Amino acid sequence: MRLAVESDIFLGMIRYSLGLIAASVAFCATPTFHKDVEPIVQKNCQACHRPGEVAPFSLTTYSAARPWAKAIKAATASRKMPPWFADEKIGHFSNERKLTQAEIDTIGAWVDGGAPEGDAKDAPKPLTFVSGWNVKPDLIVEMPADFDVPAKGDIDYQYMLVKTNFKEDMWVVSAEMRPGNNAVVHHGEAWVRFPGSPWMSDAKEGVSYATGEMRKRTGEGEILGKFNPGLGSQTFDFGGSAKFVPKGSDIVFEVHYTATGTPQKSRSSVGLVLAKAQPKLRYVTGYGPSAANLVIAPGDPNAEVVAEHTVTEPSTLVYVQPHLHVRGKDYEVRVLFPNGEKQTVFRGKFDFNWQLGYDLEKPVALPVGAKIQSIAHYDNSANNKFNPDPAKEVIWGLQNRDEMQNCFMGFLIDSKTDPDKLFKNSGPTLLTRVAGKSGPTVDTFSAK
Ligand code: HEC
Repeated sequence: MRLAVESDIFLGMIRYSLGLIAASVAFCATPTFHKDVEPIVQKNCQACHRPGEVAPFSLTTYSAARPWAKAIKAATASRKMPPWFADEKIGHFSNERKLTQAEIDTIGAWVDGGAPEGDAKDAPKPLTFVSGWNVKPDLIVEMPADFDVPAKGDIDYQYMLVKTNFKEDMWVVSAEMRPGNNAVVHHGEAWVRFPGSPWMSDAKEGVSYATGEMRKRTGEGEILGKFNPGLGSQTFDFGGSAKFVPKGSDIVFEVHYTATGTPQKSRSSVGLVLAKAQPKLRYVTGYGPSAANLVIAPGDPNAEVVAEHTVTEPSTLVYVQPHLHVRGKDYEVRVLFPNGEKQTVFRGKFDFNWQLGYDLEKPVALPVGAKIQSIAHYDNSANNKFNPDPAKEVIWGLQNRDEMQNCFMGFLIDSKTDPDKLFKNSGPTLLTRVAGKSGPTVDTFSAK
């Protein structure tokens, strides 16, 4: 009977495919640490999870990783680790640290299979780090003295000059600032002070000065290397660009320390990788649009604040690193071109504990007249567990209980362009602060 024949074939097919499933289960043995997991962990985790880095445990060996197996499965499945906040619908970033679904599944299967070590012969070559550095520095500049971090209280930003007086012009392709003591350094910057700058001209080398003692704040030059938890090293090489450090420059360390309950010491350093030859394009780090006029109303769970710059010299945007404080929720960067086109360059959640930076895979050319707009949202309600005081109207300020709305941005410019003349404030950034009302918002002025 035809039907019977067909159903026999059908049953046969089922048996055949069951056989295949059994075979594939048998073939696809439990992943092992050395063969399957270690390569993933090297690429995505060890920048932070290794001795002396920001993460609380190391993932550089099997014995260090094994006790964390269950937590590793959970943290990767939920995408809590590695930390990465860019909205995947908007653009791509060359420093993206994100696991593929296949990698997450491999880690899951490894843990479910008892997290076996496997054969050490299968292990990838261990990553090498030059005494703790993520870059291989040609030059390291260290603070000449420790800063004594008190046990308690707010600590003003601190500035320490190092008279490096470099003997030659240098072009820097990457930099990394390392805090001597991760526990007490909230964030920091190593600035280049250009020759002849009035900034800290009366400062003694190796003495730490607080913000209040730094009356003159002009001509500070440019940020060379930065430290934030999770930020890692910074590259300035976008198709051969580099940062310029002219002969005769000095270095100023600006550090925001936080008290931890016991007296501590810290001495930061910055490592520089130098270009072999002068590049065509200069990479400059600047502040993007900044809303110094911001107001966040008491209790507002979604306060919007917008800031704007208008481009006055052509440049190319290559990097964004939003900077808000503990009420910050999300951040977006848009470019409004003079021809009316609009492009969202970055959008992402903001988490104060991670001040990540994003290298644009497709740099954005900024013609004169283009506007860079940044839009941030804040949670000033009691639901924000980091909020020190939901009853407070919050304005701009340096300490974490105040707020900021700005963004470090990286631009490529012609080496003849003056980096101080790239932008002027415009639109919402020119408005005066209106007490009692969150803003300035996108709605308070026309360009939406
Ligand atoms: C940018 C730095 C950074 C990277 C990259 C990173 N981690 Fe972490 N990780 C941390 C820090 C810091 C903590 C502790 C603070 C926290 O839990 O938020 C942490 C915590 C963890 C925890 C404890 C989680 C918990 O819920 O308490 C696990 C597990 C973990 N990381 C696994 C990983 C794995 C696996 C990777 C790579 C796939 C990775 N991390 C990549 C910095 C990092």
